Amino acid sequence: MTSPSSPSPAGSPDPAAGRLRPRRSCLAVPGSSPRFLEKAQGLPADQVFLDLEDAVAPLAKEGARHSIVDALNKGDWTGKTRVVRVNDWTTSWTYRDVITVVEGAGQNLDCVMLPKVQDAEQVRALDLLLTQIERTMGFEVGRIGIEAQIENARGLVNVDDIAASSPRLETIVFGPADFMASINMKSLVVGKQPPGYDADAYHYILMRILMAARTHDLQAIDGPYLQIRDVEGFREVAGRAAALGYDGKWVLHPGQIDAANEVFSPAQEDYDHAELILDAYDFHTSEAGGKKGSAMLGDEMIDEASRKMALVVAGKGRAAGLRRTTSFEAPEA
Ligand code: GLV
Ligand code: MG
Repeated sequence: MTSPSSPSPAGSPDPAAGRLRPRRSCLAVPGSSPRFLEKAQGLPADQVFLDLEDAVAPLAKEGARHSIVDALNKGDWTGKTRVVRVNDWTTSWTYRDVITVVEGAGQNLDCVMLPKVQDAEQVRALDLLLTQIERTMGFEVGRIGIEAQIENARGLVNVDDIAASSPRLETIVFGPADFMASINMKSLVVGKQPPGYDADAYHYILMRILMAARTHDLQAIDGPYLQIRDVEGFREVAGRAAALGYDGKWVLHPGQIDAANEVFSPAQEDYDHAELILDAYDFHTSEAGGKKGSAMLGDEMIDEASRKMALVVAGKGRAAGLRRTTSFEAPEA
């Protein structure tokens, strides 16, 4: 995994590299606001997405396309994944959003986010358009990734096909505000449970998206929490997604960034433990360690499945820039 401070893996020969970008905190930045486009560059979010969709009024969209091109080309986005959210295919804006932004700043862009995705064809249409622009402009074909937002029942029902639709796909993103509206959920507070239902009303949706994402080695990202002054509420909702296995969450305000980075990073103790398991497993399966398939690490039995779980935690810790505070010592022969 890359660390948040390392350069973005744009242009990497590894096709899976984009899926491993750190995305603990994904900062929404309205493309129509030069002030926010400037300010976002200095904030410690893993990803920024410069928005042309719901944060931009219809009459401001054309101006925002050019402000975004300018910000991508002239700004300093070092260490951040750079994403632009275009409008969805049911509007009349999508093609021009993509053409203006990618022709104008394609070499300074990592991904295009497509909102309100309803079926795999919509992702493939974006993939084709990106390919034509990359060829025309002489850019590396296939380097720009796609993030697909699931925001209604139809998108969720088709999420397996959507997740399999293009090698450009890097993440599946849950859009709770539009989703709640689309299914008539009885709550106006995004992320909060609707009154009258005791269980977690989001569990099925979050798990459905997560299963589709993991089936195709994609990241799963949780959407926004709109009560921007309620950082504890944000932590709680983010913690729910992190506990299930999600990789990150949108942040709408600088005050949510540290909380997201923390919630989606492993605790130091868990990170140290994961690295120890990996070292111990390497040792015990080696010639010197007796080529064992399972072994003891302290009081704990470890095997290939433990190694897989440890790889996840260690990978997240490395991506978060954590450093080990313990080291493995091979037992005396
Ligand atoms: C995000 O786009 C949402 O609808 O929650
Ligand atoms: Mg939305």
